[in-house]
Amino acid sequence: MQKTFFIKLLLLFATVNIGCFSIAMYAQQKTTAISAKNQITEKVLQEILQQNKQYASQGKVADYIPELGKMDPDAIAFSVVDTNGNVISVGDVSKKFTIQSISKIVALMVAVREKGEAAVFENMGYYGSDKPFNHFGNLEITGKPLNPMMNAGAILTTSMIEGDGEIPFQKILKMIRYITNNNTIDYSKMVYLSEKETGHRNRGMFYLMKNNGLINGTEDQLDNYFKQCSIEVTAEDLAKIGYFFANECVRFDGDATYKNADLSKLIQSQMLIAGMYEFSGEYARRIGLPSKSGVGGGIAVCVPGKMGIGVFSAPLDTHGNSVAGYQMILDLATQFGLNVFLP
Ligand code: DON
Repeated sequence: MQKTFFIKLLLLFATVNIGCFSIAMYAQQKTTAISAKNQITEKVLQEILQQNKQYASQGKVADYIPELGKMDPDAIAFSVVDTNGNVISVGDVSKKFTIQSISKIVALMVAVREKGEAAVFENMGYYGSDKPFNHFGNLEITGKPLNPMMNAGAILTTSMIEGDGEIPFQKILKMIRYITNNNTIDYSKMVYLSEKETGHRNRGMFYLMKNNGLINGTEDQLDNYFKQCSIEVTAEDLAKIGYFFANECVRFDGDATYKNADLSKLIQSQMLIAGMYEFSGEYARRIGLPSKSGVGGGIAVCVPGKMGIGVFSAPLDTHGNSVAGYQMILDLATQFGLNVFLP
């Protein structure tokens, strides 16, 4: 009788233990499944790219700078630098395109490091805009550019970087090479000449600002702006730029030479309010991440304190932002809950 009781007790103990073990195993499996789902992998990026590449047909490749009109409308790339600094890329990852307006955030960094924020923003505002990137009506009204993301403010920013001739441009190029740890990056002479030949509106802004006493130098300064826009990068380079500004100006490989939390806050705040031009407000609502677009079809995105995202697809919407690029960012941000307004 006593023996049977002990055997039953032993069996009960074994069952409970196996049960607990199974629950523990299940919990562990579930955690693994959740973290695998929450991990950004090549497969995840590939799926998002495939689902969104069709959107390119809804946009139009920029051709107001004739050389840009030659871009392949079907090329598409998607890249992420994750929280650990790992680079994950899919699509046409080696495809180069011109950085265009995304160079404005690096130029702002160089100018603020040299002159200080107060001196730079004495000559322009921190305002957003409901107008396109090349709007400059306010130069007639207030005499100053709205912000350093729109063309007028960006031309002014570059003109504030010290040095004669090409030196300010070389400083911007050097900084982009540093941030991406990619010394092969250079500018396209063809695109630069095309911008120089046809950039009459930018030239108009340059002389209006000269007339207003904001610019004192020669047209070399405007050439530096055209050259910085003509720097050729890949989506991967853009993801590294996004990571850098998202992480207090620390490079994806951990190099902290330029670490500066306040500077990265300034740059990201400008990206958030004006990086996508007149679409910035709606973009903040839908995606909620500091981002900067360029008419070359690239967008660089910061996930503050975490990641960088880079996309490329040349066809643009009416605001000058990549259509398929926007959709890929939207999907990734939604799927992974990336949004500065989420707890
Ligand atoms: O100055 C321009 O018009 C071009 N080089 C850059 C404009 C640009 O990329 C606007 N961004 N979407």
